[in-house]
Amino acid sequence: MRQWVKVAEVGELAPGEKKQLDIEGVAIALFNVGGQYYAIEDVCTHDGAPLAHGKFVGEEIICPRHGARFNVRTGEALCLPAVEPVETYPVKVEGKDILVELDL
Ligand code: FES
Repeated sequence: MRQWVKVAEVGELAPGEKKQLDIEGVAIALFNVGGQYYAIEDVCTHDGAPLAHGKFVGEEIICPRHGARFNVRTGEALCLPAVEPVETYPVKVEGKDILVELDL
């Protein structure tokens, strides 16, 4: 069932910062790109590395294992060795809460 889950509060995550989350067993990486929040599955589509451990530049996350890059807004794989996109999740802000829509 899809539901909105609070994952953080506004102010916890400055622009350019990221956060690794485990929501009931779903690994999520949350990003702040210039004040907008984006969430992706925290599993590289190449070989399963946790993307939130990688370097975050602009709106790209660089996989810490083999260097694939993903756009955190769209999930698109931007370079090899990854070719498949990562899943993205809708994010909204309500008051001071950041919520992500997940299928739990
Ligand atoms: S596990 Fe991410 S690029 Fe290989």
